[in-house]
Amino acid sequence: MIANNQNPFIAGNWKMFKTIPEAVELVKALKEKSPEFNDAELVVIPPFTALSEVKKVIEGSTIKLGAQNLFWEEQGAFTGEVSAPMLKDAGCQYVTIGHSERRQYFDETDETVNKKIRAALAYELYPIMCLGESLEEREKGKTIDKVESQINSGLEGLGSEEISKIIIAYEPIWAIGTGLTATPAQAEEVHSFIREKLVEKYGKKTASCAIILYGGSAKPDNTYSLLKENNINGALVGGASLKADSFVQIAKEAIKAYKEKK
Ligand code: 13P
Repeated sequence: MIANNQNPFIAGNWKMFKTIPEAVELVKALKEKSPEFNDAELVVIPPFTALSEVKKVIEGSTIKLGAQNLFWEEQGAFTGEVSAPMLKDAGCQYVTIGHSERRQYFDETDETVNKKIRAALAYELYPIMCLGESLEEREKGKTIDKVESQINSGLEGLGSEEISKIIIAYEPIWAIGTGLTATPAQAEEVHSFIREKLVEKYGKKTASCAIILYGGSAKPDNTYSLLKENNINGALVGGASLKADSFVQIAKEAIKAYKEKK
């Protein structure tokens, strides 16, 4: 089980949206179109309550399932939490970890991110580790420092074999849900820094295969220019993943950009 970036990776983080019937309706619409996306890795990340029903719908298609969070213990008296084996059992292959909304509203830290990544890997779930700077940090010229410290702490103690199973999502906080998108040049600057950092820490082979996603108001009309950048391997999409049409359009733009840069 090794991640690679031969095809664009497009994941829809549905956040706290969609009842079970709404989730099923959306994923059915995506499944209908999925033969058009053989050249992309398409992942849907519904809320916990919809995982099992969404899993039933995507059976037999190329669409994959992810969850939005986990707790690092396997089981126990941890009311309200969900563990890695439970997500595996529900049919997940991916799990987002350390999303900025979780860091902001639920006190997640780089230390808890590291524990969650380890728990995910122990159950063969691919972690999608999210990181990124606030507007204030960007304005103070601290973007790279912030990203560097999140990588160093979030991935602490992990070796290159483990890193080859981790997806990194750069999500500048000021671009999430705001309609503001990082320009391709702004995003590429951070993505190339992340890849260089991976080279330095884990070697060229691991770093060159790593999947580094962009997230933050990714839309059909900005996906192409973002994914044309050398170090942008896909998108973690919030709002625009809640409608089949826009998510499908993003996947098409991603495939087009990827084919041109190959
Ligand atoms: P938006 O695409 O709604 O800005 O959300 C991005 C995000 O947070 C994905 O995880």
